Amino acid sequence: MRIRKNFLPFSRPSIGKSEVKRVTTCLKSGWITTGALCREFEDKFIELTGSQHAVSVNSATAGMYIMLSALNIAPGDEIITPSMTFASTVNMIALHGAKPVFVDIDYGTLNINPDLIEENITKKTRAIIPVHFAGTPTDMDKINNLAKKYNLAVIEDAAHALGTYYKGIHAGGFGHPAIFSFHPIKNITTGEGGMITLNDAEMEKKLRLLRFHGIERDAWKRYGKGGNPSYDIAVPGYKYNMPDVLAALGLAQMERWPEFNRKRSDLAGIYLERLEGISGIDLPQVPQYDHVHAWHLFVIKVSALNRDEFMNKLSDYNIGYGLHFPPTHTLNYVKERYTENISLLPETERAAQKIISLPLFPDMREKDVQYVCKAIKEIIKNG
Ligand SMILES: Cc1ncc(COP(=O)(O)O)c(C=O)c1O
Repeated sequence: MRIRKNFLPFSRPSIGKSEVKRVTTCLKSGWITTGALCREFEDKFIELTGSQHAVSVNSATAGMYIMLSALNIAPGDEIITPSMTFASTVNMIALHGAKPVFVDIDYGTLNINPDLIEENITKKTRAIIPVHFAGTPTDMDKINNLAKKYNLAVIEDAAHALGTYYKGIHAGGFGHPAIFSFHPIKNITTGEGGMITLNDAEMEKKLRLLRFHGIERDAWKRYGKGGNPSYDIAVPGYKYNMPDVLAALGLAQMERWPEFNRKRSDLAGIYLERLEGISGIDLPQVPQYDHVHAWHLFVIKVSALNRDEFMNKLSDYNIGYGLHFPPTHTLNYVKERYTENISLLPETERAAQKIISLPLFPDMREKDVQYVCKAIKEIIKNG
C-alpha cells in the first residue's frame, strides 16, 4: 500500500469558529480569569451529570488533589484504585501520604474488576477511585454497594468519561464526587482544565476554598463595582482555579460534545469491524450492562509482534499512537514505596505488555481509519 505523506496524529483537538468566537469575546471583555464563565461552565456539568454542584479547576490532577484534601486523606489511609490508570492519581494519593492499593482489571475493558475489590478492603481503606477507562463505564452498582457496606468514599475518575453513561446515568451522576479532565486529547478540551461534580454542599465550599488560596469570596466579586476588596483566609489553599478564558473554550466545546462523541463512536465502529478476527490483535471489549461508551481512546492489544517493533512500523506508515498507560505499579517510586500486592495483578500485567492506543479524534476521517486498519494488516502479515 502507498504510505501517506502527512503524519496522522494519535489525537488532535477540534477547534472551530465557535471556540475562536467565544474565546475572543472573553479576551475583549476585560475579565479573563475565574468569573461568570466558569460558573456557566460549571452549570453545564450540573446539567449534564445531574449532580448538585460543580467546581472548575485547572486540571483533573488538581481536582483530585483537593478532593483528597477535602476528604482529610492522611498518612495511614489506604485508597483502592486500578494500577492501569494515569500516574497522576497515584501521585496525588502519595502526596497525601496515603497508600494506593491496586486492584486488578478486566483484560477486555481495562476497567477495575469490581469483584476483586472487597478482598482488598481493610480497616484503613477510606476510598475507591474507579476509572471509566477509555470512556467505558465501570460497573458502578457493584462499587456503590461496596462503598455503602464499608462506608467508603467513591471518587469517580471521569477524565475519559464525558458522554459515558452507565444504566442511563452519566458519569458523575451517582451522588458521589467525580472528576473530569479537559486536557487536549480528552473528549472536550480547555487546553488544560478539570471539573469536579458532587452533591455535598459543605464539601463544595471546602473545594472552592482549597482551589483559590483559601479565600472566601471569588475575585470577580471582590473587584466588581462596589465590591469589597478585602479578604480573610480560614484555611491555606492552593492556586488551582480555572480562568474564564479557558471556560469560554470549554463552553464552546460543550455545545459540540454530542457531535464529537458521535464521530468517535462511528470511527471506533469502523476499527472494530475492520480489525476483527486478526490473529495477534485483541480488540477492546464493551460491558454487557446497559451503557453508552464515550470512546475517548481506542486501545488494542498486540501480541502478533513485539510492541516496540509494532510502534516503529506504525511510524513508518506515518501513523501516531499513544500508550495508555504504563501501569502505575511499575513506576520507579511506586515500586520502591509500595511493595505489597504488586505481584497480584496478572491481568494488568498481561495487558500492559500489549496495549497501544490508535488514532481517534473527531476530525479524523473514515478513510484515515481505513488507512490505519490496512497498515496494521500489512504490518502483521509481513511480521
Ligand atoms: C485516567 C486519568 N486520570 C486523570 C488524568 C489527569 O488529568 P489532567 O491532565 O487534567 O490533570 C488523566 C489525564 O490524562 C487521565 O487519563
